[in-house]
Amino acid sequence: MNHSFFLSLSLSLLFVSVFSSDGADPLIRQVIDGDDARLGAEDHFSAFKIRFGKTYSSEAEHDYRFKVFNANLRRAKRHQNMDPSATHGVTRFSDLTPSEFRNSVLGLRRLRLPSDANKAPILPTDNLPNDFDWRDHGAVTPVKNQGSCGSCWSFSTNGALEGAHFLSTGELVSLSEQQLVDCDHECDPDEPGSCDSGCNGGLMNSAFEYILKSGGVMREKDYPYSGTDCGTCKFDKTKIAASVANFSVVSLDENQIAANLVKNGPLAVAINAVFMQTYIGGVSCPYICSKHLDHGVLLVGYGSDAYAPIRMKEKPYWIIKNSWGENWGENGYYKICRGRNICGVDSMVSTVAAVHTSTT
Ligand SMILES: *[C@@H]1O[C@H](CO)[C@@H](O)[C@H](O)[C@H]1NC(C)=O
Repeated sequence: MNHSFFLSLSLSLLFVSVFSSDGADPLIRQVIDGDDARLGAEDHFSAFKIRFGKTYSSEAEHDYRFKVFNANLRRAKRHQNMDPSATHGVTRFSDLTPSEFRNSVLGLRRLRLPSDANKAPILPTDNLPNDFDWRDHGAVTPVKNQGSCGSCWSFSTNGALEGAHFLSTGELVSLSEQQLVDCDHECDPDEPGSCDSGCNGGLMNSAFEYILKSGGVMREKDYPYSGTDCGTCKFDKTKIAASVANFSVVSLDENQIAANLVKNGPLAVAINAVFMQTYIGGVSCPYICSKHLDHGVLLVGYGSDAYAPIRMKEKPYWIIKNSWGENWGENGYYKICRGRNICGVDSMVSTVAAVHTSTT
């Protein structure tokens, strides 16, 4: 390569880069992260591999992942157009196809909405605070990471029980997801054949039922997470740290959801995670997002200027704790707008109460 060619190439790269950041393209801005003038698809991919420590076992695998990555860049761009109040771009999951993503980092087994069996009592909704966040009240453990295991349901379940246990005892104890992954095979009474099955998925209400029957959940540190489901159940009844008193389903009503959240602690919720694969931050409020629920998460709070009216600029939102580590989203959290049951977030909400047990 001669000098003048190299120079003109760099200049045109520089030009394109300046042009793009002026065009306020969040994808490009996020990828180049400031001033580095690298733009080609290969460079995006190299930066991605370095940032997330990705290595591939063969040349063929590498080339395939590069193709998937490029498809995901285009998808992130589409998501950005459909969801302008959030930022979408490259994430740790940018080399996964949508179906790999669903199979490896989601894990909600659910086809129908829960029956009315245990309906949460209707609560008064006047005097709800305008903003509320259980993280400010000590009821939320640090963000965890499910790894490449469809065990989201166990994190959602334990998140709700950790909060309920905190409310009943005043102590915040991180609970064992691995116990649920290894030991919980409870089946959904509404749906024959749909049973909690480790890394292959599960359902929060079935897990609450399992905890009720088994007696409780051990501490995270007594039964640490491995993110695989080939182990045997190592549940030790003498080391139970938290127990379920009862659990119920909250009605599909945003005021009831808020009231249950404030009164009972963080809530186990299901969501359609399609926009989460490319989510970087902001309030996600896609124009279109189906209510196909495929992910279990934890609702810990809400924010807005005023609770009832939807303002033009300030979008009221739910604050969601995810289980993909702190390096995903906003320090592990997702914000999704409330008011329209976006991505089905209001469709399957469960609240749990803990037995007051002393664990010391
Ligand atoms: C659930 O259990 C809690 C704690 O024991 C109790 O205060 C509450 O009344 C129960 N709720 C229902 C709906 O049974």
